[in-house]
Formats: sequence, structure tokens, C-alpha cells
Amino acid sequence: MSAPGRPKHESSLGEAVAKRPEGSSSGAPGRPKHESSLGEAVAKRPEGSPVSGGSTPLLQIEHLTKKFGGLVAVDDLSFRVDTGEIVGLLGPNGSGKTTVMNLVSGALRPNSGRILLNGRNLAGLPAHRIARAGVARTFQLVRVMGSLNCLENVKAGLAFGPADLWGRAAEREASGLLERIGLDGAADQAAGDLTYINQKRLELARALALRPRLLLLDEWLAGLNPSELQEAIALIKSLHADGLTVILVEHVMDAIRSLCSRVVVMNAGAKIADGPPLEALAEPEVVRAYLGDDDA
Ligand SMILES: Nc1ncnc2c1ncn2[C@@H]1O[C@H](COP(=O)(O)OP(=O)(O)OP(=O)(O)O)[C@@H](O)[C@H]1O
Ligand SMILES: [Mg+2]
Repeated sequence: MSAPGRPKHESSLGEAVAKRPEGSSSGAPGRPKHESSLGEAVAKRPEGSPVSGGSTPLLQIEHLTKKFGGLVAVDDLSFRVDTGEIVGLLGPNGSGKTTVMNLVSGALRPNSGRILLNGRNLAGLPAHRIARAGVARTFQLVRVMGSLNCLENVKAGLAFGPADLWGRAAEREASGLLERIGLDGAADQAAGDLTYINQKRLELARALALRPRLLLLDEWLAGLNPSELQEAIALIKSLHADGLTVILVEHVMDAIRSLCSRVVVMNAGAKIADGPPLEALAEPEVVRAYLGDDDA
């Protein structure tokens, strides 16, 4: 299940910061990169929710801190995400983005701070309870159950969702999700035999099976070729149009620019900027974080 060594096509965030105000396409930094391309997919959600921002944020992170021994991976971080937003969570490698995703989804427990979803504190709850509350995610390194087929993978997601679907109803729902994500021909195929792109598709279908209110995508667009990237961006837009709120950890500048109304930029665990993408990325502290003091 390793990522094939494909050429990188996307314009990366580090380059975009380096070439303010706008990036250009070239190689991405030397991080593990993966790929995906998608068909149509829209999450069905149990109850409608508005696509406009309201006064109560969907997600409010307050003074969140996570330490690994002496390393403060997330350092007193606070930010909010309103219903209907697509917020980019950005920052140089190792700045704490995935750790934030892990804290919000319950894969890790914070040392301190609060994670409020519609006002309810999820911090420290087990992952399955957070999933039930409406938070779904994909992983930076794709995770599917390789020995199960695609339909079973999505049905496993349904088991953690709010709908309590079993038997034929679960099968119908899972088939529908595979179809939306462009994997309808692969229902009986073992997930481990899928290409890396299709594993990422499958992972998204499984996340959507939770009928989330908040979707966390950790570098889900990384490593795509230009046409795959456009498809994937269109898919995220369609999920958003359907009412889904998204936090996108991303280094691909084209995706950030076309999807995110706002970005939160981290460095060394702390928030250093929060605002519209081009403005936030032009802030001196952000430029310093990406390029170092000498270039800022
Ligand atoms: N389970 C862990 N145990 C110890 N240290 C960890 C653990 N997870 C992350 N870290 C460290 O915490 C810091 C933040 O890591 P994290 O993976 O959140 O960064 P990131 O912003 O997602 O980086 P990238 O862009 O490379 O994915 C890094 O220094 C990392 O080595
Ligand atoms: Mg990461």
C-alpha cells in the first residue's frame, strides 16, 4: 500500500509563499506525497444545516495543547470554523497540523484545551463518539481495510455513523456512496488491490458514510496530477454545496486558493495567521515560517 513515485505537478504552498503573491507550478517539497482522483460524491446528511456562517461556530478550538514528551506539537491553539466554511489548516512540515486533526477526531487526547462542536466539548472523547457526533476524517497516509472489499469498507464506516443501517439498507447506502465517489465498479474488489488513488477515494467514501457535519481532510489532494486535482477540487466543492463543513490540511496552493475562504496558519504548534488565503500567506510571520528569517 505504498504510494507510487509519481512526478509532482501541483503548485506547493511553500513555493507560493516564496513567490508572493501567487505561486506557480513546479515540484512539491520532499514530503511523502499521495494521489487521488474522484468522481462525484455527495454526503447525505441526516438533518439539514445551513451553509451560511452563524454566530455559534460549528467548531471552536480553545487553547488546545498537545505535548509529546518535551515537544509541544500543538501550543495553546485557538480558532473557529463556522458551518459551511472550508478552512485551510496550513503550516510548514512538522508544524502540528496532523496532530490537530488527531485531536479533533479523537485519535489523540489533548493535554489541555477544549474542542467544541456546536458548543459540546469533544476533547478527550473516544474516536467513535466523536464520529457519532458528526466528525469524519481521512488520513495523511491512506488507511483502508485491505482484506475487505470496497463495499465492506464503506459498510464498516456506516456502523460508526448515526443512521444505524444494517443488512440490505446498509448495502444500498454503501453502494450509493461508492457510486458517488466513482468506485461503483469496484464494490467486490479487495481494498488492498486498489490503486493508491482509488484507496483514497474509498477512504473518503467511508468518511462520508458517517454522514459528517465536519470533514477533516489531511493532505487528501496531495500528489495529484492537474486533471485529477481539478476533479478532486470539484468533488470537495460539491460536498460543500451539499452543506458539509471542511477543514483541509493542504500544501497544494491551487486547491487552497480555489477552495478555502479562510486559512489558519500554524508554526511550531501555534497559530500565526488566520484570514483569507492570500492575505494570511503574505503576512511576514508566515513568510518567515516558510522561508526562514534571511528571506523574509
Ligand atoms: N505520536 C507522536 N509522537 C511524538 N511526536 C510526534 C507524534 N506525532 C507528531 N509528532 C511530532 O509533532 C510535531 C508535529 O507533527 P505533525 O505530524 O502534527 O505535523 P504536520 O504539520 O502534520 O507536518 P506535515 O506537513 O509534515 O504532515 C512534529 O515535530 C512531529 O514529529
Ligand atoms: Mg501532517
